[in-house]
Amino acid sequence: MLPGVAIDSASMSVDGNTLLRLTELTVDFASQEGTVHAVNRVSFDVAAGELVGLVGESGCGKSVTANAIIGLTGMVPNAAVSGAIDFLGKDLLTLPEPELRAIRGRDISMIFQDPVTSLNPVLSIERLMTEGLEVHLGLSHGDAVKRSIELLGEVGIPKAANRIKDYPHQFSGGMRQRVMIAIALSCNPKLLLADEPTTALDVTIQAQILRLLKSLSREHEAAVIVITHDLGVVAGMCQRILVMYAGRIVESGPAKPLFARPHHPYTIGLLKSVPRLNEPRADSLQTIMGLPPDLAHLPPGCAFAPRCFLATDECWAAGPELEPTDEGRMSACFHRDQLRAGETEAVA
Ligand SMILES: Nc1ncnc2c1ncn2[C@@H]1O[C@H](COP(=O)(O)OP(=O)(O)OP(=O)(O)O)[C@@H](O)[C@H]1O
Ligand SMILES: [Mg+2]
Repeated sequence: MLPGVAIDSASMSVDGNTLLRLTELTVDFASQEGTVHAVNRVSFDVAAGELVGLVGESGCGKSVTANAIIGLTGMVPNAAVSGAIDFLGKDLLTLPEPELRAIRGRDISMIFQDPVTSLNPVLSIERLMTEGLEVHLGLSHGDAVKRSIELLGEVGIPKAANRIKDYPHQFSGGMRQRVMIAIALSCNPKLLLADEPTTALDVTIQAQILRLLKSLSREHEAAVIVITHDLGVVAGMCQRILVMYAGRIVESGPAKPLFARPHHPYTIGLLKSVPRLNEPRADSLQTIMGLPPDLAHLPPGCAFAPRCFLATDECWAAGPELEPTDEGRMSACFHRDQLRAGETEAVA
């Protein structure tokens, strides 16, 4: 268990109200080094209003997964995308671009890591905020301005009516990220993809933004996929966690039991690298030894085996599939039963 962070215990189970279903999503990029297997048969569901954390080290395929959901990967010339992304009964991978454009920004919106580069600096906050409201919701400019001011108030921008003519550079980093959230929520999306939404911010502001995102997603009844390399970020916010490694989901399940007893050695490693309140010294943090594999030259066995304290001969020979362990939980590890029984804690 992570002593430094609160776990969201509300609504741990996924109801039957599925909003998004990824089935065997696979994204390959052609490159000079060979085919980069960025996302490899990734399947998961997100229920309406659910808060899901997608976690893993740099380069494991988190952003490529999010970009595929919002339809950006298909535009990359060297990308080959397969599988299915079902959003409310429509496969986003086969949807014609005009229909996809209507969904993007309205039903599905995205918050990017860096509010400095993701807010166009030459447009005023008014222009940035009203465009979506006018295009997607058909509001008149006057109504769009009124709604924008309300939204800016909701995300905690003081004196919003006086700030709406300002430009992004006139706001601090934290305030810019609040504006991004206001824009992302403006058309009442059913799904919000938050790709490293707080990485560029200092720790105090990070916590404020995460709290804001969580409460607003509840008010707006939006499901959120929070993408981060830091398990600490999603621990206090998300109901369910998807752990990604080398393009695959290696563990998934409700947050509380997953943090209490991971069923994959990689999750154990990620947990050990999260700062804890009772261990304030940075040098007490552990990192996972070694590096993730080259996605153009994946090993034949489990991609985590070279870094794993539990690896045995079978792990080097073949890759384990993602299979159920406990209720609602899955793990892609040959040693999942041992981990489930807590037999490995002394070694971990
Ligand atoms: N257009 C592309 N051509 C070739 N490889 C690509 C392309 N886009 C992404 N990749 C590769 O796909 C892999 C997954 O990248 P992705 O951006 O999804 O990682 P990530 O998990 O979001 O990492 P980070 O935490 O650093 O943001 C990386 O190895 C990346 O280099
Ligand atoms: Mg990324």
